[in-house]
Amino acid sequence: MAGLQDLSLDRLSKRYGPARALDDVSLTVARGEFLTLLGPSGSGKTTLLMSIAGFVAPSGGHILLNGQSIEHLPPEKRNFGMVFQGYALFPHLTVAKNVAFPLEVRGTPRAEIGRKVKEALDLVQLGAFAERLPRQLSGGQQQRVALARALVFAPHLLLLDEPLSALDRKLRADMQIELKSFHRQIGLTFIYVTHDQEEALSMSDRVAILREGRLLQLGPPAELYERPATRFVAEFLGKSNFLAGTVEQRTADGFLFRCSGALFEQTSAERPEIGSDVLMALRPERMSVVEAETRPRNTIAGTIAEFSYLGTSFHLLVDTAAGRLAVTVPAWRHGAPPAIGSTITLGWDPDASIRVEKD
Ligand SMILES: Nc1ncnc2c1ncn2[C@@H]1O[C@H](COP(=O)(O)OP(=O)(O)O)[C@@H](O)[C@H]1O
Ligand SMILES: [Mg+2]
Repeated sequence: MAGLQDLSLDRLSKRYGPARALDDVSLTVARGEFLTLLGPSGSGKTTLLMSIAGFVAPSGGHILLNGQSIEHLPPEKRNFGMVFQGYALFPHLTVAKNVAFPLEVRGTPRAEIGRKVKEALDLVQLGAFAERLPRQLSGGQQQRVALARALVFAPHLLLLDEPLSALDRKLRADMQIELKSFHRQIGLTFIYVTHDQEEALSMSDRVAILREGRLLQLGPPAELYERPATRFVAEFLGKSNFLAGTVEQRTADGFLFRCSGALFEQTSAERPEIGSDVLMALRPERMSVVEAETRPRNTIAGTIAEFSYLGTSFHLLVDTAAGRLAVTVPAWRHGAPPAIGSTITLGWDPDASIRVEKD
């Protein structure tokens, strides 16, 4: 693919009246990277992608391609490929004509169009479908046509806005794998928008979490999952319990905090002041149901309020002095399903939880 580029956003903002759809967003996308913008509905993902594409004019800040400001360029001069939600193919045009469209707009010579369309369709394994109409294709095939159309003019990078959200669950999972391997194969920079956290975790090199137009945290999926900076990130990326407490003592490798009468140990590089309020995020799968004699260092007693069997695991909701805690345990470890109303002890190691900002 032609000319891989570095894209940087420098304090990019977009206001609609008093509302801030984008608020001082700065980030750099590396060449060939798969970067995902993840956030709830209305967090500014589409506005960010449309600003990069040139369809939305920012109110402030800069968009830089290889260090050159591109805000003044119209979309077609930026040469970015786009794939949207619901594919938006022309229904009355054949697959080949749909894919040829961006080349025709650019005034590409006819002979070259034929060759490039064939290449693009071969790339998405739809060479045999060139003369079909979109409605004669499955959802996944239509999505691949949209992809071929976005790639046919050798774009500098590819912008994808929830491209799989119209597909059913199974097809969506297949397409995620396909898109990811496709990304590896062509090595083009992808900026991918989704509100689906599993999709973001499984596909991306790095994930940017957006909320109310602001970039909250940016990092590789495992880093965001294991070290969320804020309560919002911990909750949005996976499930989490939260323990609010007060620091009571500093230890050699962390601190002790008091929460609902009990004292818990926390491993931590930073030592908050004694007496300060802290909030801990504790993932359901980092806790276990423990026997009295095999206790980890932190334990809390509770009553099972809800229980569901998920095949590979049990999911429990347990009422404790620290509130209702969610716990996920591997099903193979427990012969009989736990009974609602029974009393159990939950345990976790001091390094299983992590301190987060309250946001
Ligand atoms: N053309 C517009 N006019 C006014 N407000 C808009 C416009 N486009 C988006 N917004 C607002 O900007 C915010 C971000 O929207 P959007 O970027 O579409 O979010 P997302 O794609 O994350 O769901 C929302 O509050 C939305 O209502
Ligand atoms: Mg959107």
